[in-house]
Amino acid sequence: MKKNKRYGFQSAKKKKKKRKIVYVSLTVILGLLLVVSVVWIGMNEWNIKQSYQQIQNAMGLTADDEDQSLAPIEEIPTPHEEIVEPKPMPESAPESKPIKPETTEDFVSYVEGQELPTEPTYIKGMLIASKKYPLPSTFAPGESKDARVAFDKMAAAALLDDFRLTAFSTYRSFEYQTDLYQRYVERDGIEEADRYSARPGYSEHQTGLAFDIGEVDKQEDWATSRFGETDAGRWIAENAHKYGFIMRYPDGKEPITGYMYESWHFRYVGQEIATEIYKDKSTLEEYLGVK
Ligand code: DAL
Ligand code: ZN
Repeated sequence: MKKNKRYGFQSAKKKKKKRKIVYVSLTVILGLLLVVSVVWIGMNEWNIKQSYQQIQNAMGLTADDEDQSLAPIEEIPTPHEEIVEPKPMPESAPESKPIKPETTEDFVSYVEGQELPTEPTYIKGMLIASKKYPLPSTFAPGESKDARVAFDKMAAAALLDDFRLTAFSTYRSFEYQTDLYQRYVERDGIEEADRYSARPGYSEHQTGLAFDIGEVDKQEDWATSRFGETDAGRWIAENAHKYGFIMRYPDGKEPITGYMYESWHFRYVGQEIATEIYKDKSTLEEYLGVK
């Protein structure tokens, strides 16, 4: 009886001690988690979204991959939607189907059998991605911070004119571009797909410097030639250079850029160079002296 009493007393004491250890451990773990989170977010300039992406990257899953893997092909429309499924067009809308070139002899095109390089190409200090200058498959810089800051400034300026701009496709991983290009080839065939979609390793989107821009809530015009005819499309065409962006694939420049007119695809090059290219009505290839 005495023994039992004693035993019972000891057990309660032990339990209390154990509970204390558990509480202390939990407090320490929670404290550590809090400190790690604060340090991590601090390392990312207090940008919670970026910190979240960093954690995902550390876990081997990028936010882009996650978003994009869920995105159906229709979420990144192409100018060819109009060819595959013609949509009703307003009377005044210009011909939106791409005009097929009579001859492709002088067109910049892929080098048959070219292997992807181990390093990206910089010309005059500028990163280039084109049919002639591919990127390593491992090149994965994510979206450019400078380009995002510039885009946000441009969007704020556009808002003063009542245009709500959004960048509906920016950085794309090599893997995502592989999937996207493949789906376009299956839909339209290689010859057509090559005119509007880059093969994996050749897309400027993989640099993180290309922004596909449209208007919020006007998905029907995203990535179609109609966008260039909207007031917002015209506004960007006239103002993007002030924020460091160039229209990368202007109308009539397919022989030089390798891609048909894309009124929505802008590349960040910085204000000075963008202004020079805009004033010259030229292209990045012409500015860099390459084709
Ligand atoms: N639409 C552009 C050419 C790309 O796929 O990168
Ligand atoms: Zn684009």
